[in-house]
Amino acid sequence: MGAGYRLYLASLILGLRRKRVSEIKDHQSTSNSKDAMLEIKDLHAGFEGTQIIKGISLTINKGEIHAIMGPNGSGKSTLAKVLVGHPDYEVTAGQVTFNGKDLLAMDPEQRALEGLFMGFQYPVEIPGVNNAEFLRLSYNAKLVHAGQEEVDPLDFDEILDEKMKLVGMDKKYKDRSLNEGFSGGEKKKNEILQMAVLDPKLAILDETDSGLDIDAMKVVAQGINKLINKDKGLILITHYQRLLNYIQPDFVHVFGDGKIIKSGDKSLAHELEAQGYDWLTAAKN
Ligand SMILES: Nc1ncnc2c1ncn2[C@@H]1O[C@H](COP(=O)(O)OP(=O)(O)OP(=O)(O)O)[C@@H](O)[C@H]1O
Ligand SMILES: [Mg+2]
Repeated sequence: MGAGYRLYLASLILGLRRKRVSEIKDHQSTSNSKDAMLEIKDLHAGFEGTQIIKGISLTINKGEIHAIMGPNGSGKSTLAKVLVGHPDYEVTAGQVTFNGKDLLAMDPEQRALEGLFMGFQYPVEIPGVNNAEFLRLSYNAKLVHAGQEEVDPLDFDEILDEKMKLVGMDKKYKDRSLNEGFSGGEKKKNEILQMAVLDPKLAILDETDSGLDIDAMKVVAQGINKLINKDKGLILITHYQRLLNYIQPDFVHVFGDGKIIKSGDKSLAHELEAQGYDWLTAAKN
């Protein structure tokens, strides 16, 4: 359960293992386009011999927001988890480059340190791991990877206060165990708090809107908007057009049975809201 990199970061806290920066291999550049942040080419992946992702090609350039929609079970979360290196899934064909480096050759933790982040549809509870401590060690791991000095707990506390304000989270969640006993909406906010602290180059947010009340969704969406800029990329997986009123996508892709069956601009999300998916799947069959 959970993604390897998140568990890795948790394991740093638990003192189970610490990867030295010098151990992190430099991956060769294989990209052609200088603005392409993520290039997925004909990706096939699955779980224990079952194909779930059946040939996905997608390029995310710097500054772009892509929404991914599609019916339940069409492979949206699986794609996201494959991209962050979830150990349950096996890539059977295709290539993925992230900022010109071979993403699939990297460990989950390297992917995170290189600036890839995923906010989970079902965030994992890690009892015994203090939320603020987890965030501080995650933050410091990224600083060390970037060749910078770690911040001390007092300075981090100020950084954390500012980030919590950004996502509309009460300070009392600092001292709770990571996601343990958090309500559905609190877990989603905590995912965005992690994003705010880690400041990723590319964030994949899997149904962040589900579980958030209407006011919380607005605050979180405003927070996300403040975290992205022309150098960042964002993939929003969502079932509802409503989120896209607050975070405007440049592209909308519809998944169907492990493939992208239609891509368009944000008007596609309105069409889906009005008509559902039948017209797309019917056209396909
Ligand atoms: N670890 C797994 N074990 C067994 N089946 C899996 C596993 N992961 C994914 N699948 C199957 O792969 C398919 C795609 O699942 P996925 O979670 O990617 O769908 P999704 O598009 O995110 O759906 P939803 O909108 O409901 O979140 C589903 O049929 C799911 O049951
Ligand atoms: Mg899903």
